[in-house]
Amino acid sequence: MRANPPLLLIAGATGATGSTVAAAIAAMKQAPDEMLPWLTTSHWFKDLDPLKGMELAGWDIAHRTLKQAIEYHGVLPPEKYLPCLEHLGKFPIRHAPGNDLPLHKQVEHLIRDIQDFKGLFPYTHPVLVNLLPASSTIDLQEFNALDELYSQADALTLPDLSYVLAAISTGTPVVNFTSNPIELPLIAQEALKAGVPLCGRDGKTGQTYLKVVLASALKARGLQVDGWYSLNILGNDDGRNLADPDKAAGKILNKTELLDDILGYRVGHQHGAPCHKVVIDYYPPRGDCKEAWDVIDFTGLFGMPMSLRLNLQARDSILAAPMIIDLAWWMVAVHMAKRPGLVPELGFYFKKPTGPHPPVTFQDQLSALQSLEHDCREILD
Ligand SMILES: NC(=O)c1ccc[n+]([C@@H]2O[C@H](COP(=O)([O-])OP(=O)(O)OC[C@H]3O[C@@H](n4cnc5c(N)ncnc54)[C@H](O)[C@@H]3O)[C@@H](O)[C@H]2O)c1
Repeated sequence: MRANPPLLLIAGATGATGSTVAAAIAAMKQAPDEMLPWLTTSHWFKDLDPLKGMELAGWDIAHRTLKQAIEYHGVLPPEKYLPCLEHLGKFPIRHAPGNDLPLHKQVEHLIRDIQDFKGLFPYTHPVLVNLLPASSTIDLQEFNALDELYSQADALTLPDLSYVLAAISTGTPVVNFTSNPIELPLIAQEALKAGVPLCGRDGKTGQTYLKVVLASALKARGLQVDGWYSLNILGNDDGRNLADPDKAAGKILNKTELLDDILGYRVGHQHGAPCHKVVIDYYPPRGDCKEAWDVIDFTGLFGMPMSLRLNLQARDSILAAPMIIDLAWWMVAVHMAKRPGLVPELGFYFKKPTGPHPPVTFQDQLSALQSLEHDCREILD
């Protein structure tokens, strides 16, 4: 069965990550061969073509075009995006429904938009990508029915909900790249009923990706981790938003919990205090160019101590954009393979993989991708 290329419907389209994804998709239309090497799916789905057919649309509350957004965020120098301005200008970005509207009105508005976008790009497979800012922690677990959610959920606190509900109603797969916990049991159940796959949570782009690799490697050699201190600084709008401890709490938890899960013990248990520390600091001069330091204390034979330092100088949106395009392709494949609900096999891409028994070590995450590709390939071949 031939797959249509994804139409990425981005909530938060003119943010740093969304506008970089837009630039990448526009660039792909001009020179797919220059973009392919950065995609993991070009390895997994060798014949998922044509990349030229990918499209993008979305919403934002900020009144700016994609070109203005790219200039504002400063992720890309002009010579990288000016050649594809014509394509960028064709991606429709709409104003997000007002936060003052009741949840059901927001959802109705978004459903109409999704239907319009589908009409504009009929030969594509729509996938919703959530790139809204991190929200304050909120407990929505208690909702048992959609009516209850519509009448009581505070959409202002978690605007992501309206996008996910609109996606499920229109049969659109969902990628949750944010740390916002939209995969409530009720939402997962509705997605399952509607035949819609949903993956998340919280893109694993830089420091945490390397943490999973290193922790898995230390575990494989039987080396004991005594402590792990992770500091990262970033100066983009995401960093400014995360300077609010309440908004950072979910992300810090996602960055912290996975280490014990990989190692199979509580790091620092012998010290009687938590010894896995994660600090995120907003440091404006760096913009999107984040920097991370890790100090890893571990022991070997006879309990002899050793230590490792890691310094990563990376670019937030440059790491994130290809992963988002990859995830959109995965969701097209998984949707066509009729695998609705949460997709734990995509844990490779996320800090907090959702779904039953997600793989936690690096090698298990790669094996899970391999078996998912195998399941999808039978349909796509
Ligand atoms: N880039 C990465 O490496 C990375 C990694 C993991 C997670 N994330 C998460 O992805 C999300 C996006 O990151 P970013 O750097 O692009 O952030 P950003 O702040 O640059 O972009 C967020 C965008 O969402 C828009 N927005 C806010 N409320 C909205 C609403 N109700 N409807 C539509 N748009 C709305 C904002 O105007 C902004 O343009 C964040 O939650 C971030 O934590 C990013």
